[in-house]
Amino acid sequence: MTEEQAGATPEVEVLYAAEAIAARLEELAKDITARNLERPLIVAVLKGSFVFAADLIRALYRSGLEPEVDFLTLSSYRKSRTSSGNVEILRDLDLDVEGRNVILVDDVLDSGRTLVFAKDLLSARGASQILTCVLIDKKVSRAVDVAADFRAFEGSNEFVVGYGMDVAHRYRELPFVGRMTKE
Ligand code: IMP
Ligand code: MG
Repeated sequence: MTEEQAGATPEVEVLYAAEAIAARLEELAKDITARNLERPLIVAVLKGSFVFAADLIRALYRSGLEPEVDFLTLSSYRKSRTSSGNVEILRDLDLDVEGRNVILVDDVLDSGRTLVFAKDLLSARGASQILTCVLIDKKVSRAVDVAADFRAFEGSNEFVVGYGMDVAHRYRELPFVGRMTKE
């Protein structure tokens, strides 16, 4: 399939093709499964991680893990490309995380504020272990101190879209991760 057919647009250049993401997720799933977590609970941070989380849980199935799954909708980016600095809960979890081994799944680790907020929330609710897993770990200086336990790819400071990630609500449907070619 050509990039046009795969959904590329003149504004978005492919960084990680669908096939490369799929191959990387199989490895990532094996690494996560190797931790032998008891009663693992995936907490996907929405909206950006929904495609990643959906593919990741099926890769985890193939590597033999049977996680429960829940969703936490957080907001920090809104319509702009730069972080506003404060994170809010837009929709909370349904499940009780007390005593659970949680794998927090997010799309991008950038300033770190979103992951720290989510980690603090789960830890205050009594999660016994919180591991973090991100699609893109941006190699930038964090506003807060946090590291990803698992990452699919290391990214630079540039803004990425596609594979669930948006800019102003656009491009989530792209099957690849791309970078904006124009500002
Ligand atoms: P942080 O709180 O600054 O670490 O930013 C993390 C959140 O900002 C992620 O959950 C993403 O939703 C969003 N974000 C950061 N960088 C990007 C990007 O390049 N593309 C799309 N969303 C991003
Ligand atoms: Mg996000």
